[in-house]
Amino acid sequence: MKCAKQYQMAAPLQIGRMTVKNRIIFPPMNTNLTSEEGYVTPELEEYYVRRARGGVGMIVLEASTIDASSRNHPRQPLLYDRRHVAGWARLVERLHRYDVRVSVELVHYGSEASIPPRESPSGISKYKDDPGSILTKERIRQIQRQFAYSARLAKQAGMDCITLHACHGYLLAEFLSPVFNQRTDEYGGSFENRCRFLMETIDLCRKEVGPVFPIIVRFSADEFIEGGRGMEESVELAKALETRGVDAIDISAGQPSAYLMTTPPYCLPQGRKLLVPYSAAIKKAVKVPVFTAIGIREPEEVEEILKEGMADMVSLGRPQLADPDYVNKVLSGKGDTIRHCLSCEFCLDTLDDDRHICCAVNPETGREQEFHKITPAETKKRVVVVGGGPAGMEAARVSKLRGHEVILVEKSGELGGTLNAAKVPPHKDRIGRLVEWYRREIRELGIEVRLNTEITEENLDELKPDAAILAAGAHYIKRIPGSDGPIVINAIQALTNPEQVGKRIVIVGGGSAGAEVADYFSGAGISLSVKGADKPGGKVLYQEEKVAEPSDRDITIVEMLPSICSDVDVFCKDLVLTTLKVNGVKMNPGCRVDEINDRGVRAFQMEQQKELFFPADTVILAGGLRCNYENGFADKDYPVIRVGDAIRAGKIKDAVYTAYYKAMEI
Ligand SMILES: Cc1cc2nc3c(=O)[nH]c(=O)nc-3n(C[C@H](O)[C@H](O)[C@H](O)COP(=O)(O)OP(=O)(O)OC[C@H]3O[C@@H](n4cnc5c(N)ncnc54)[C@H](O)[C@@H]3O)c2cc1C
Ligand SMILES: Cc1cc2nc3c(=O)[nH]c(=O)nc-3n(C[C@H](O)[C@H](O)[C@H](O)COP(=O)(O)O)c2cc1C
Ligand code: SF4
Repeated sequence: MKCAKQYQMAAPLQIGRMTVKNRIIFPPMNTNLTSEEGYVTPELEEYYVRRARGGVGMIVLEASTIDASSRNHPRQPLLYDRRHVAGWARLVERLHRYDVRVSVELVHYGSEASIPPRESPSGISKYKDDPGSILTKERIRQIQRQFAYSARLAKQAGMDCITLHACHGYLLAEFLSPVFNQRTDEYGGSFENRCRFLMETIDLCRKEVGPVFPIIVRFSADEFIEGGRGMEESVELAKALETRGVDAIDISAGQPSAYLMTTPPYCLPQGRKLLVPYSAAIKKAVKVPVFTAIGIREPEEVEEILKEGMADMVSLGRPQLADPDYVNKVLSGKGDTIRHCLSCEFCLDTLDDDRHICCAVNPETGREQEFHKITPAETKKRVVVVGGGPAGMEAARVSKLRGHEVILVEKSGELGGTLNAAKVPPHKDRIGRLVEWYRREIRELGIEVRLNTEITEENLDELKPDAAILAAGAHYIKRIPGSDGPIVINAIQALTNPEQVGKRIVIVGGGSAGAEVADYFSGAGISLSVKGADKPGGKVLYQEEKVAEPSDRDITIVEMLPSICSDVDVFCKDLVLTTLKVNGVKMNPGCRVDEINDRGVRAFQMEQQKELFFPADTVILAGGLRCNYENGFADKDYPVIRVGDAIRAGKIKDAVYTAYYKAMEI
């Protein structure tokens, strides 16, 4: 086993006069955990302290606004007034106990603030109907002074450095952008003019914080918009920032019209290690440290990036939401026990819904104050868990950690449940990693597992439980006449037994599962990468690449709802639909399936009021799940507690959360 010092990521780094203990950053990520008034709360404090405990070298506190009127989140962190300092100072003091360096990202959201009023260099915004006001030179100077004042407050709060938020299309980024900045005065036009707003801001911040306090700038190395900044100008920008006295360069990507490049989802393979070529190019051009980010998941990837000199520090954002102990695990030789991020975007969805930050695979994220640690149960019990899907495995894991005697019973021959099907479609290997993680945890904890064993209400008693957890999942409802016919199978059977699937397929149900089944059987011959948005508030343009021979299958999706993929999040939906289209999948939304027979599917197009027939040799049911044993497994002289899909068919996060919460109560 390697000792900690042998890892590249364990090496300290000098940023100006500041020493960072290792090379991993927890990058800025808004949480909605501050108070409504923008103050640090106990919840926010515990959330960051948990990350610090995990061994990370530097934490960049989430985007905090320098101006009372510029807000992007209902619970927007604020740092523009003396009254904000005390909360941040308390948090920073606690973080310092873990020898972590702390920065805060200072932001003005410009014309991309989700909450008006908006301000911008030229009135160009994705919010076309309300782009807000165009900045006068007086207002430019005022905002620059506000940045500087906030920098001073950050220093006063004990932060070790500051990060200026010049990415993702917010105000500083808008000035830098050849697309968003169309000014004709000295703040627009040439590269030098577009940089002026940021450079003057840096000068004013420098005056406030003094010559040795590190100033870091985070900018989008590629804006992913037609006519926007790409690699070449980003290298020039980094050089100009170094000349201006910036102490480190931090890069990100995108702007609000191509936000999926800022936090790429699992279904975009291009998003893996997205910015490594950019940081490598920038590193060749400057001497100050360069940070890279986005889509880096494996410790081996981090090690290679650092070893090859492609960056000096690596941001692991979502990976540390999923597993705050990421760094400590790697440095103690236990990198293979990391619970990996799925890049499923649930964390972003919750923020979009104005809820606090969450993680699909880590129920403690955002709830660190409530779930400080898994506590031992008052009374040791014998807990029988029925079903070895994610809900059952999580319930078994938490119960065992709480000191119970646990028996996990699964009727099939392997653990994983529906995830053994969910991991099959293209780009879903991370779900397979989650299954591996659970299997490993269960093995390491010494949980007794009984495979190929079906539990009934009768034989459950034989296991003499003090408490039983029913994690038996859900089944596809066969409501449509003919659903029992010889050519009908369901999505799980199709993905796990592809040899049962013929050449002419009709998929009944066009939600995420149906779309993934279609993607898989279409052969996914053409893969898409994002070129960028065509214009602010416009559509994302894709580039097609042939990656495999197209399948010779004829695939049709029939969906009753007016759109396909209605349960797919906003970040992936357009990408998934475009992928299906280029791979020749025929999509029929707004179509009610009335009957399945031996030759295919009879349906009714509701808008056109037209009967249709879709010929098929295989019909795959991919919609309409109902929990198993709906009317069975009532409480006996011991409680029978339902978790996961056995309550209501949902997603991994529902399975993991319900299991964790219930197991914490036994
Ligand atoms: C094709 C497909 C793709 C999906 N993709 C995603 C995705 O990308 N992201 C996401 O979040 N969710 C996804 N889901 C949903 C996700 O898989 C489920 O929400 C999750 O698996 C539910 O977990 P669970 O443990 O409650 O049930 P399951 O995973 O269904 O596990 C139930 C287990 O109980 C066992 N069992 C049943 N009855 C008994 C019994 N009597 N005795 C012993 N064992 C029994 C079963 O064999 C099974 O192993 C997908 C679902 C499908 C069908
Ligand atoms: C929930 C969430 C909130 C984010 N908020 C911010 C932010 O406030 N400022 C910022 O610069 N980047 C923000 N980001 C981007 C992250 O800092 C990071 O660059 C991104 O998640 C990609 O890295 P990863 O693949 O390691 O997660 C956010 C990302 C997520 C997932
Ligand atoms: S919610 Fe999904 S994308 Fe976000 S950190 Fe957790 S696993 Fe990763």
